[in-house]
Amino acid sequence: MSAGYNLGPVEQVPFGEGRAFGVDGEQVAVFRLRDGSLRALSAVCPHKGGPIADGTIDQSVVMCPLHQNAFKLDTGCSTTGAEPLTSYDVQMDNQRNIILWTAAR
Ligand code: FES
Repeated sequence: MSAGYNLGPVEQVPFGEGRAFGVDGEQVAVFRLRDGSLRALSAVCPHKGGPIADGTIDQSVVMCPLHQNAFKLDTGCSTTGAEPLTSYDVQMDNQRNIILWTAAR
C-alpha cells in the first residue's frame, strides 16, 4: 500500500524550477511547471549522479545539468538514451501542500 507524504507548501518550488526532497529514504525532485502543475522524479541522475532537481525544464522534459541527458517529466524515460528515472505521483492538496506518493508507478 502506498503512503502519501506531505512535503509542505507548494511555494517552496518556484514556477519553472525543481527542488529536491528527502522522502522515505529516497531523494525526490519535485518540479512545478509554468502552468502550475507538479511532476516528481527520482533526484539522482542515473548517468553519473547529477542533481536532477537543478536541471532545466520545459513543459515535458528535464535536462540534467551535468551532461544534458533529458528525461520526460511524466514518465522518467530518457529521450537521450540514458537509463530512466523513477516517476512518482504528486499533487497539490486543498491547503496548497505538495503530496507525494513514494510507490513507483
Ligand atoms: S550525470 Fe546526468 S547526464 Fe550525466
